[in-house]
Amino acid sequence: MVLAAAGSAVGLGNIWRFPTEVGNNGGAAFILIYLACVIFVGAPVMVSEFVIGRRTHANTITAFRRLAPGTWWSIGGVEGVLVAFIILSYYIVVSGWTLHYTVASFANQLTADHDFQQYFGDFVSHAWWPVVYALVFMLMTHVVVVRGVQGGIERFSKVMMPMLLLIIGVLVVCSFSMSGFREGLEFLLKPDFSKITPSVLLSAVGQAFFSLSLAMGCLCTYASYFGPDTNLVKTAFSVVTIDTVVAVLAGFIIFPAVFSVGVAPNEGAGLVFITLPSVFNIAFGHVPLIGYLFSGLFYVLLLLAALTSAISLHEPVTAYLHEEWHMPRRTAAWCVTIAASVLGVLCSLSMGPLADYPIFGMSLFDFFDFITAKVIMPLGGILICLFVGRRMDEEAVRAEVTNEGRLRIPIFRLYRFLIRWVAPLAIIAIFIRGLL
Ligand code: TRP
Repeated sequence: MVLAAAGSAVGLGNIWRFPTEVGNNGGAAFILIYLACVIFVGAPVMVSEFVIGRRTHANTITAFRRLAPGTWWSIGGVEGVLVAFIILSYYIVVSGWTLHYTVASFANQLTADHDFQQYFGDFVSHAWWPVVYALVFMLMTHVVVVRGVQGGIERFSKVMMPMLLLIIGVLVVCSFSMSGFREGLEFLLKPDFSKITPSVLLSAVGQAFFSLSLAMGCLCTYASYFGPDTNLVKTAFSVVTIDTVVAVLAGFIIFPAVFSVGVAPNEGAGLVFITLPSVFNIAFGHVPLIGYLFSGLFYVLLLLAALTSAISLHEPVTAYLHEEWHMPRRTAAWCVTIAASVLGVLCSLSMGPLADYPIFGMSLFDFFDFITAKVIMPLGGILICLFVGRRMDEEAVRAEVTNEGRLRIPIFRLYRFLIRWVAPLAIIAIFIRGLL
């Protein structure tokens, strides 16, 4: 289950969304703010979710109800289960793109003489191909969730995740040799603090929550399956570290390529899909077979990383319908799959045929991303801080974090302080300023 938590965290958020946000928000300064958010907000919130989940051994909504019976705190769980849906619906769209790139890469379509900007644009605005890929991906998720997560995919990810890391490592080394390497490095390492605005701060908090799978009851649900000896602080530390390393390394692959290929760093959602094929071509163009194998393998692994994350968005909703509404697990899973597919299709079409019907000036896709990462996740984060930091009995929290006193956790007081003061106040301040 610890591995499942890492599988949930590492996904498109690291390799697709992180570089996109870095590009949109000006580079190095954003990364510094992001790291601060991960350490001072993300990590303590993750430990808190683990505390809620393992204390109750139940799905999120039931968990909040048990810890605070008869109060409005269960909103914390309801919000998570509802919103996991929305995230899932646009997550499958980007996963569908990944699936297409996997297929295209094995079909040897991602070869040097493409204009990848055009290629990406043509693909996502096509009337039905992206929809087909998103639906296929949704079905893949469905099949795994129905069969149960532990046996299959998690044993699989034990091999896959290290492989993904290895390939990312090789690609980072390759990116050192690109013509845009210096510029890329400067973009990533030379902070320009004049670029920090309240909305950049909000983006950083939102990205931290998204990437660490927080505030949607997802890690709560997983922690409800943790054993009595799991060290919660250590687990959170591992998950946060792996997740952050993968994200930053992805930045080191993408940005040298951005400047080598000459696309703008704030290209948006397509950034990764435009630059990555170029990375493969530039790095391996002279040895086509290796390039072919490498890009194919890379997209397969990215697809698997996306799959473990999509499962973790699907599972809490299915578990809730199953446990609380007493639906058979199969029916529950179908309900989630169908509802998320309908929303997902609309999201996908909002970039093509439905582009003329924006919502608040954004496509449905961008709107869902905005409303979840920048509004609902920060609110959910505040709620979790207040719940574990102020509503729950301190001794209960201490007992859970120290495994009933069997572990010595010297940083417990620091954790308490972060969760009671630093994290909630920071999120509130950033949220209010950012939205204004
Ligand atoms: N963290 C995943 C990623 O980086 C996405 C994800 C999975 C997620 N479960 C979540 C985001 C729960 C928010 C909440 O791709």
